Amino acid sequence: MAKKPFERPIIQKINAGIPSKYGMITRPEPIEEIEGISIESLIEKFESPVFVLSERILRKTYKEAHRAFSSRYPEVQFAWSYKTNYLNAVCKIFHQEGSWAEVVSGFEYDKALANGVPGSQIIFNGPYKSRDELKKAVINDSLIHIDHFDELYELLDLAETMEKRPKVAIRVNMDTGVYPQWDRFGFNYENGEAWDALNRIMVSKKMDLLGLHTHIGTYMMTSQAYEKAALKLSDLAIGLQRKYKHTIKYIDMGGGFASKNTLKGAYYPGTDTTPSFDDFAEAIVSALMKSEFKPDQLPILILETGRALIDDAGWLAGTVVANKRMADGRRAIIIDAGVNLLFTAFWYAHDIRPVKHFSEQTEDATIYGPLCMNIDVIRDHIQFPLLKKGDHYVIRRVGAYNNTQWLQFITFRPNVILIDMDGKSHVIREKETLEILNSSEKLPDHLI
Ligand SMILES: Cc1ncc(COP(=O)(O)O)c(C=O)c1O
Repeated sequence: MAKKPFERPIIQKINAGIPSKYGMITRPEPIEEIEGISIESLIEKFESPVFVLSERILRKTYKEAHRAFSSRYPEVQFAWSYKTNYLNAVCKIFHQEGSWAEVVSGFEYDKALANGVPGSQIIFNGPYKSRDELKKAVINDSLIHIDHFDELYELLDLAETMEKRPKVAIRVNMDTGVYPQWDRFGFNYENGEAWDALNRIMVSKKMDLLGLHTHIGTYMMTSQAYEKAALKLSDLAIGLQRKYKHTIKYIDMGGGFASKNTLKGAYYPGTDTTPSFDDFAEAIVSALMKSEFKPDQLPILILETGRALIDDAGWLAGTVVANKRMADGRRAIIIDAGVNLLFTAFWYAHDIRPVKHFSEQTEDATIYGPLCMNIDVIRDHIQFPLLKKGDHYVIRRVGAYNNTQWLQFITFRPNVILIDMDGKSHVIREKETLEILNSSEKLPDHLI
């Protein structure tokens, strides 16, 4: 008979199902499968921990979001925000669905080209684009979103030397009633800087001004902010029409729609509080419709939504490596994935579950990662069943930003799996090895 695991006894208040004055206890229900495949079998086959993405959910969420806009507005174009998750398999799925690419660096730009996106369908955002990168974007007819005056002057200077005219928009920041205001990127609307930049572009006659862009923030909890932003961009577009008889081709409202994750410190879960795609679409479209745009001159509406399209399609599954008691008696559970893999643990109270029914009881616990760093906390104060070393857990809604912001720090980055539409699993990014990491290091002769 196998030896039963021993834990030093401790007196603790047990939550075992009786409602208190705070209501029913919340016990994380197990999640045993992803897309019909047992999580235990995924861990067995692809090792622990492992990121898992669902192609079905990616496509379904994309279609829902696109439908919310295209059922209200004549011409809608999505551009996949590469930095949200630029694994090629993910990008290709969104491109197959019809998405352009939205990139913020030369590296992402090249990735989009290599993924088969035509240059004219790449939106180049961000506060730093080198002269060579700008040149490449001009040659490829990409849409360059100018972030500041230094970039505007660089591009004007470049335009002198090139046969092609740069295709540009400006990024605009503004007061949308959500604070702190995101005024770090782009030209400000209220102080006249955006209008100033537009005038300089028009007067220069060296560029094709095609659009206006904004990205008002991220994880936005209110759709009204988008209505204000769309009205302000429309106002600039109407100004161009009046002064220069110039009609812009598109308005790009950026991303920022909240996903269903729950922010740390939030009173209610994200599933109950975040606006839907329909809410965001309604706010943006009604602003554009009631602006002074003539019906036959309505601009194309571009959206760069990132996290809301992919968060729900990703899981991180792994193994408990130890349990221990903190000095105050609190339970600490150590798992094999740390904040180096799950960067979003810094701002989300992630929904972490056991993969099967382990115990009737739950206990207030803190879930730590495996890093020898004090900041490595995956989830604070969670009522969690009494998992033992070797038991498995799964964390929901991890599709956005983790596969791009993760760090090779202390541990290797693990396999990433895609479950396709037929339920077949594919490794779409192989786990790192010492050979891979060492391959870019060099030793000076005297240290060999
Ligand atoms: C310019 C731009 N567009 C789109 C996005 C995607 O944002 P989100 O994931 O919040 O939708 C970002 C992210 O910060 C961004 O900077």
